[in-house]
Amino acid sequence: MKSNLLMFAAPRIEYGERALETLKGEECSRALVITDKNLSKLEFPEFVIQNLKAERVEVYDGVEGEPDTTMAFKCSEFARKVDPELIVAIGGGSVIDLAKFARVAMEVNIDPREVRAKLNLRAMGFRKKAKLVAVPTTSGSGADCTLAVMLKHGNSKISAINVEFIPDMTILDYRLVEKMPRRLVATTGVDALAHGIEAFLTKLHNDFSDLFALRAVQLILENIEKSYDGDTAARAKMHLAATMAGIAINNSQLGAVHALAHSFGAVFGLDHSMTIAIFLPKVLRAYIPEQRLEELAEKLGFSKPSHFVKRIEELIENLSLPSKVIETVEDPSGKLEVLIESAMKDLSFRFTPKLLSREEVADIFRNVF
Ligand SMILES: [Fe+2]
Repeated sequence: MKSNLLMFAAPRIEYGERALETLKGEECSRALVITDKNLSKLEFPEFVIQNLKAERVEVYDGVEGEPDTTMAFKCSEFARKVDPELIVAIGGGSVIDLAKFARVAMEVNIDPREVRAKLNLRAMGFRKKAKLVAVPTTSGSGADCTLAVMLKHGNSKISAINVEFIPDMTILDYRLVEKMPRRLVATTGVDALAHGIEAFLTKLHNDFSDLFALRAVQLILENIEKSYDGDTAARAKMHLAATMAGIAINNSQLGAVHALAHSFGAVFGLDHSMTIAIFLPKVLRAYIPEQRLEELAEKLGFSKPSHFVKRIEELIENLSLPSKVIETVEDPSGKLEVLIESAMKDLSFRFTPKLLSREEVADIFRNVF
């Protein structure tokens, strides 16, 4: 069978209860810590700073609300003045994505709308002046290991893809997720679950991505509810699983769950993870009897794909997440055509195991209203 694999990309991963101590081994004289306003009020940046050996450590906490390219350029300007040898991004997916872009923009003048996978940033002067270490404080986005950067740009969202965005290292320190709010455990955990499932189902899946996707889904199904209830061992497993799922999508892409969720989130300004919870089971049901879904269900120990989808519906209910959009927005039916249009244009839509028809997409949207 022909493999889809052209490259396997992943950062160095340090994990464990005291993984942040790895930073003590990073020789540097100037370091920059990037985080957001809320986290900087808590002890999170301090966790990083106390493990840095640098003579000078600066903290940039100008990330606020939904990060956009203006914030990213401000951050890169700040970084240029500090001229760090090490950048540590501590936070959720948005902070890490902003740091990924700011680190490149610190060295290269780039328009975020023009960054493509084939753009040779090294030829443009990007020489990895500063190493980038990601320290995720949530377990879901996978931003700590992906080559994609999602940032708001004016009224739209851009998704820039380049291998140079991948952090050099990701540190999965379990202590950072022990006190994560339950709501965040639920929403980000379901996003990670969708990453694992879509990475397994996509047309671009390969032997490397299958390995990470399948293990991530197994770990999430075993641990997500326990993690929601505050079990710290389960939270540690979820933290690993989120990065595994991130590695899987990095090497095989996403699918229609994300395409529909991106569309709905953009039209109604909703949080990514919340929309994923709504669309995940509905899109999977639309795939039945797709053979690849059957294969995944079987590998996970379900006798039928419908039983697997039922388990996901139960899990979403157990995590008190919405299954209908009426729980998050008022009557969305007037926007149906815009939603369909935007979902079918989304890059992720074309990688689905079964290409959904316009009517099937419309049915899924009507089903969640
Ligand atoms: Fe996602």
